Amino acid sequence: PGSSSFLIVANRLPVDRVGEDMWRRSPGGLVTAIAPVLQRREGAWIGWHGAPDERLDPFEHDGMHLIPVPLSAQEVELYYEGFSNATLWPLYHDVVATPVYSRALWDAYRLVNERFAHAAAEAAAPDAVVWVQDYQLQLVPAMLRKLRPDVRIGFFLHIPFPPGELFQQLPWRRELLEGLLGADLVGFQRPGGASNFIRLCRKTLGLQYQKHEIYVEDRVVRAEAFPISVDFGELDVLVREPHIVARAQEIRRDLGNPEHVLLGVDRLDYTKGIGQRLKAFGELLADGSIKPGEAAFVQIATPSRERVEEYIRLRDSIELQVGRINGEQGELGQQPVQYLHQSYGRDELAALYLAADVMVVTPLRDGMNLVAKEYISCRHDLRGALVLSEFAGAAEELKQAFMVNPYDIDGLKRTMLSAMRATPHDLSRRMRSLRRRVATYDVDRWAQDFLAALES
Ligand code: UDP
Ligand code: G6P
Repeated sequence: PGSSSFLIVANRLPVDRVGEDMWRRSPGGLVTAIAPVLQRREGAWIGWHGAPDERLDPFEHDGMHLIPVPLSAQEVELYYEGFSNATLWPLYHDVVATPVYSRALWDAYRLVNERFAHAAAEAAAPDAVVWVQDYQLQLVPAMLRKLRPDVRIGFFLHIPFPPGELFQQLPWRRELLEGLLGADLVGFQRPGGASNFIRLCRKTLGLQYQKHEIYVEDRVVRAEAFPISVDFGELDVLVREPHIVARAQEIRRDLGNPEHVLLGVDRLDYTKGIGQRLKAFGELLADGSIKPGEAAFVQIATPSRERVEEYIRLRDSIELQVGRINGEQGELGQQPVQYLHQSYGRDELAALYLAADVMVVTPLRDGMNLVAKEYISCRHDLRGALVLSEFAGAAEELKQAFMVNPYDIDGLKRTMLSAMRATPHDLSRRMRSLRRRVATYDVDRWAQDFLAALES
C-alpha cells in the first residue's frame, strides 16, 4: 500500500505539461471543481499530464501532490481521442454527434483504465478513500476493488448519463456498468442520470434495487445525484478587486462601449450550441431587431480535442459562420462578433463576466455547465442576465435564468432580446435568487455531501 489516504483519480491532472518545467492549467470544468477540493484536503491526484510518450515523476503543484500516469501517442489516439471522445462523449450527450464504435478503441480504453487502477492501488494507503472521476475511467472502480478490497471507492460522472435507449447501443454496455458498480457510491449531476443508471443495472445485469441502492452480490452500491458547483466565495472576492473592475471597464471600451455586451465562454465543443446562439444573434442584426453598434457578442471558444474529426468540422463551421456575420453585418472598424479561439485565465474570465450584460449559455446537452454558475458568482452588483439552455444540468437549479430551448432559433432570439431589455428591477430580483442558490450549494458543499455519503 502507498501513503495517500485521499486520492483523486482523473484522466487529466489539473495542469498540462507544455514544455520543460512549463505548466498550463488543464481545460474544462472537472479541473475547476476538483482542484479546490484537493487543495483543502491532504491527498494526491493521479492523472495524465497532457504530453504523449513522456514519463514524469510525482511532483507538487499549487498545494497539490500530483502523480502523473503516462500515455503513449497511440493510447492518446485510441483511448482519449477515440473511445473517450469519439464514442462515449457523443453517446452520453444524446448522440448530438454520431458515436464511433470500434473494438480497437475499446481495447485501448480497457488497457489504460487498468493502468490508472494500478496507479491508484499503489498510491492508496490502507483503508483510503479513492475518488474516481468521469467517463474516461468508468472501468477503474471494479478494477481497483479487485486490487485493493480495503479502500472505499467513489465515482463521479461529470457528464450526463444517457437514457437506456441510447446507452444500449454500446457493444460494451455490460462491462461499463460492471466497471462502475465496483464503486461504493456512484454520483451523477442530475437525479435523471442516477435513475437511468439504476434502471440499466436492472435491465442489463438483472440486479435488484431499492430507491438509491443496488444489490450486487454481497455488496450495496448507492447511485445518487450530487450537482457540482463552483467556488462562489473565491470568485465573489476576486471580482471586487480593483484590477478586475478596471479590466472590465477596459473591455467595454475596447468593444466600442456598446449598449449591450453579450458573452459566450465554452470549450469549442459541438455540445455547447455555439452555432445556434450565433445564428440567433446574426438574425437579430439582419432583421434590424438590434441596431448596428448597439450590441457586441464576445465568444471565447477554447481549443479542445483538436484532432477529433467532429471538432475539426465544428471549428470550420463556427469560423465560417462568424466570418459571414461580421462580413454582412459589420462596418469598417466594427465587427459585431468578437471570436477568440484561445484559452483565458481566471482573472480575465472574471473581468469578462463582469463586463457582460448578457451571458449566453446554450448547450444542446451539458452535464452541469460551470460557466453559468461562475457568471452568477461574479455578479454581486445584481446586474447581468443569464440566458440558459434547459438542456444544461444547471437548469435544474437555476430556475430564475432566462430559459431557452437552443434548437428553437426564434425562441432564442426572443429570449436574448428580453434579456437585453429586462428592467434593472427584474434583473436584480432574478440574480439575487440565483446567487443565493450558488452561494449555498458551492463546490465545498458538493464535495462534502459526496464524501459524507461515501463514508456513511
Ligand atoms: N475556462 C477557462 N478558460 C477559458 C474557458 C473556460 O478557464 O478560456 C473554464 C471555465 O471558467 C469553467 C470551465 O473552463 O470553469 C468550463 O467548465 P464547464 O462546466 O462550463 O464546461 P466543460 O468545459 O467542462 O464542458
Ligand atoms: C469536460 C469533461 C472533463 C474534461 C474536460 C476537458 O469537463 O467532463 O472530463 O477533462 O471537459 O476536456 P479534455 O478532453 O480536454 O480533458
